[in-house]
Amino acid sequence: METQTLAQLFKTYFNANPEFIVRAPGRVNLIGEHTDYNDGFVLPMAIDRAVWIALSPRTDSQIRIRSLDLETDAAFDLHSLTKGEGWAEYPKGVAYELQKAGHVLKGFDAVMTGDVPSGAGLSSSAAVELATARAFATICNITWDAAQMAKLSQKAENEWVGVNCGIMDQMASAASKEGYALFLDCRTLEYQHAPLPKNISVVILDTSTRRGLVDSAYNERRSQCEEAARWFGVKALRDVSVEDFERKTKEESGLSEIATRRARHIVTENARVLEAVEVMKAGNVKRLGELFNASHISLRDDFEVTNEALNQIVECAQEQPGCYGARMTGAGFGGCAVALVQEEKAEEFTHAVSAAYRQRSGLDASVYVCKASEGASIIKE
Ligand code: GLA
Repeated sequence: METQTLAQLFKTYFNANPEFIVRAPGRVNLIGEHTDYNDGFVLPMAIDRAVWIALSPRTDSQIRIRSLDLETDAAFDLHSLTKGEGWAEYPKGVAYELQKAGHVLKGFDAVMTGDVPSGAGLSSSAAVELATARAFATICNITWDAAQMAKLSQKAENEWVGVNCGIMDQMASAASKEGYALFLDCRTLEYQHAPLPKNISVVILDTSTRRGLVDSAYNERRSQCEEAARWFGVKALRDVSVEDFERKTKEESGLSEIATRRARHIVTENARVLEAVEVMKAGNVKRLGELFNASHISLRDDFEVTNEALNQIVECAQEQPGCYGARMTGAGFGGCAVALVQEEKAEEFTHAVSAAYRQRSGLDASVYVCKASEGASIIKE
């Protein structure tokens, strides 16, 4: 949304101009799926879809936020936060964690809007959390430390909202840089901005199916990974190399067949992320595409987090001219896939994939080229 339009809408509600506008993006994960909660490596990028908050500080501890998209209001007091239901739990959870960490917060009046589709695997909730954190940081003079803000936001989601996610989404929304992917070590939270190869487009393929029962399946994967880590005698599967994996699973018994496959996905996926960063630097897009394809197969067969629609859209993508590779992205069980496409073929690709997918699945996909955008930032002071 244009900042002017947003400022105008703020004025309609609060009879004054907003003092600030902040923005935090959604993300697409290029590669490194389900590795974050195994202390592993990920390579997401922030996308040009985001959450915007226009706000002005108040002199008391009241928070008032108008959601322009849902056409509802949230109001709460920073000194007496209580759990409720709905979208306001995200800003509330962030306020709670910031205060718990010792920050002194001020109230604000705000309008909020966004264009990250929800439930699609593009981290709309992380975008709301980081936009809120950015809003508080701006008016309360909190130094913007991306990793610290991401950790607090993740805690808000884990403990206040009750979703057991890893750190990838919040870090991508907090720390990304325009034009770059974010190569992140989820154990140390050290990151590098990795330049995207030239002449390629990153295309998001939304299957239009939404994940159901994702929490229980996600938590089940987490415990299977923990079971495997215990068997390997390590803190997390990040500490197992592909060679360790092959040797130990050949020589010793005792790890269930399912946990073995789950571990194989994590161990090989971490290796793929490290290789992806290298081949990106070398401009080897062909190999990067192969890594995408291999990641999808591993998520489909070993980690079992795809659904029929994701498998179909990925196949449709891989068959198109100019496509280097494609894979599901995010938690899985529905939502989006991501494809790496030759730039001059991208436009044609979006139409061809939509048509092929409609024919194969009977469903309408949303397919769009996305740009690597900047992480959470102040866009108007
Ligand atoms: C969700 C979680 C992330 C990550 C991905 C899978 O998006 O929020 O932390 O685990 O699934 O890679």
